[in-house]
Amino acid sequence: MIRKLVVSLLSIGVVVTSMNALANEPIQPIKAVTPKSADVVELGKMLFFDPRLSKSGFISCNSCHNLSMGGTDNIPTSIGHAWQQGPINAPTVLNAGMNLAQFWDGRAEDLKAQAGGPIANPGEMASNHELAVEILGSIPQYRVHFEKAFGSDVVNINRVTTAIAAFEETLVTPGSRFDKWLEGDKRALDSSEVEGYKLFKSAGCAGCHNGPAVGGALYQKFGVHRTYKTDSTAEGRKGVTGKDSDLHVFKVPTLRNIELTYPYFHDGAVWTLEEAVDIMGKVQLDRDFNKKEIDSIVAFLKTLTGDQPDFKMPILPPSTNGTPRPQPFN
Ligand code: HEC
Ligand code: HEC
Repeated sequence: MIRKLVVSLLSIGVVVTSMNALANEPIQPIKAVTPKSADVVELGKMLFFDPRLSKSGFISCNSCHNLSMGGTDNIPTSIGHAWQQGPINAPTVLNAGMNLAQFWDGRAEDLKAQAGGPIANPGEMASNHELAVEILGSIPQYRVHFEKAFGSDVVNINRVTTAIAAFEETLVTPGSRFDKWLEGDKRALDSSEVEGYKLFKSAGCAGCHNGPAVGGALYQKFGVHRTYKTDSTAEGRKGVTGKDSDLHVFKVPTLRNIELTYPYFHDGAVWTLEEAVDIMGKVQLDRDFNKKEIDSIVAFLKTLTGDQPDFKMPILPPSTNGTPRPQPFN
């Protein structure tokens, strides 16, 4: 009888410890999302893929945030309208809904506030909100989707950005090997990957890269201990707050799917994870990792790749005779 009681107390103990263990980890598993409205998300997906939101009729959100490539363009800085060289690396849209704010410097408060920006940015899609709304409104099949999503067929920029943001909120990546490990499947990681995670915590990486997105929750200076040499003129938070102390302070990026989102840093100058980890050690922690340490952290980082968005390609309704024409070359 007493033995039975001890055994059951012990097993309760085990459950409690494993729950506590998860609570004590700096990183939490990503949860799948249930979209609030399937019709709004479907419309947002169409808009995300529709190049008619750009002046050229050629550039969509997906051009720079390619969902077949981790939600990025895999080039140092993006190519905008008329092949303009962009000023900064395109961050991933995957799990972006978890960020405390959007953009490297956090100048947009959320996904909806962000989504109107690129459409009207002359260096990106180079259109404007009136034109984008006129184009969509000239397409009856689009108006049917607006009706389904919002209860009337009125097209306006508020609805456009609401729908795009709703779609982006579904772009989460649960199911990574690391999350399986966190949830108790100890075979999901090998010993080098576990070593890498321990070092990631003990060295101090997790002080900045933490939470479910392994980042996105804080602003931090890039260059805490040593200076990062770059040709980029990006000022970071200083551009938003005007404070000198915010020079080179950036949103700590998510490390989810980091294996897919090269090249790294806001200037996109670093192509390998090994080099990125080496730089982070030196610049942020004043620590020179040896090769074995770098390899184990990189092995851990690669376990953060989750299930990529999986959906049916949206088929976009054709333009009509009255739809304003694209202007690809001016
Ligand atoms: C020409 C390439 C380009 C296009 C087109 C583009 N983006 Fe971006 N996007 C970028 C770049 C570059 C940044 C980073 C800008 C910055 O931080 O100053 C960015 C930032 C973002 C972010 C912030 C992510 C983060 O972690 O801070 C989101 C979300 C986003 N874009 C969504 C969109 C949506 C939605 C569209 C379509 C309406 C779009 N983008 C079109 C290049 C592009
Ligand atoms: C003091 C906060 C801080 C610490 C500590 C820190 N990081 Fe970072 N990390 C950042 C910031 C800020 C950036 C963005 C830098 C920039 O402007 O490009 C970043 C960027 C990165 C990137 C590139 C992400 C991308 O999408 O371009 C990687 C990889 C990375 N960190 C890994 C690590 C690792 C591994 C460690 C530990 C060795 C670490 N970081 C320690 C704040 C930190």
